[in-house]
Amino acid sequence: MATKIILDVDTGSDDAIAIMAAVLSPDIEVEAICTTWGNQCVDFTTDNTLRLLDAMGVKIPVYKGCDTAMTKYLTHDYIEAIPFAPVMHNGKPVIMHSEHLDLPEAKSMAQDMPAACFYVDYLRRTKEKITLVPVGPLTNLGLALRIAPDIAENIEQIVIMGGGSKEANLTPCAEANIWHDPEAAEIVVQSGAKIVWVPLDATHKACVTLDDCERFRSLDNFAGNFAAKQCEQRIIVHNARQPLEIPDAAAVHDALCIAYLIDESVLTDLRHCHVEIGLSGYGEGQTIIDQRAEVIAEERNSYFAFDADRFKFVDILCDCFKNCQVKQASGHN
Ligand code: RIB
Ligand code: CA
Repeated sequence: MATKIILDVDTGSDDAIAIMAAVLSPDIEVEAICTTWGNQCVDFTTDNTLRLLDAMGVKIPVYKGCDTAMTKYLTHDYIEAIPFAPVMHNGKPVIMHSEHLDLPEAKSMAQDMPAACFYVDYLRRTKEKITLVPVGPLTNLGLALRIAPDIAENIEQIVIMGGGSKEANLTPCAEANIWHDPEAAEIVVQSGAKIVWVPLDATHKACVTLDDCERFRSLDNFAGNFAAKQCEQRIIVHNARQPLEIPDAAAVHDALCIAYLIDESVLTDLRHCHVEIGLSGYGEGQTIIDQRAEVIAEERNSYFAFDADRFKFVDILCDCFKNCQVKQASGHN
């Protein structure tokens, strides 16, 4: 039976690949997509999400979420993050997440209900537990849990793209999604729901190469071609700003959460441990992992992935993308 999920995205290039994989996988049923700020403002991340669903000819309700963190920016003593500068490539600036995905304007619109209210409404009404897959800042879910902590009872598990043990990106200690809203992340960690972390330690290992992009293109459909284009853009930025163990490769962070739901063995070193979120000082936004043996079982609030299988990851993506019946973005002339 397919795993029913709610995605929470800040669409972005890797969010887009995650959305395509989830929509195209027979093992996953996307109940709804919430959007949040993060890679771009929530107006742009919502528009990008709608453009992608329209291009795929898919109808999934989209709930627009928050445009900033719960409390972070109410103070002025947070650690500044230095975003990656654009990379000049063939005379043109290349960035990880463009304001607008290169797709036709969206025709569909987001629902009226705000994302945090949707979480409360849906999770209080549902008769079966559902898996949440947040792959951007956790602001929407953090708010919903503050409004109605009881909704955690109807959450099967929360598969979070975020955090890092030995890896960071936006500051020396923090990964972007968690750094953007550490308080929301801590509320989610304290919710009591089962949490699986898909952090940079795993996503940097499950990287996609230029050869893999050719595999995507050989599928000769919209999903394969669009994924190849997004990954090639990401590879340019990774090579220049965030080189991985393998040259000419890119992490596709968010899609690894979807791959995990399709085949858990793609995460090759998943450990049960205690995770807390750094909320101040130099460690703001850090995922602090406590693996000490004496951490008693009840204290262990998370499953945290320290490694992943990139070959299995790309195979899973190809298995999803091959189901795309759209030759090119509908609406593209
Ligand atoms: O740090 C990687 C995460 O930040 C990914 O979810 C990417 O889309 C950005 O949101
Ligand atoms: Ca994201």
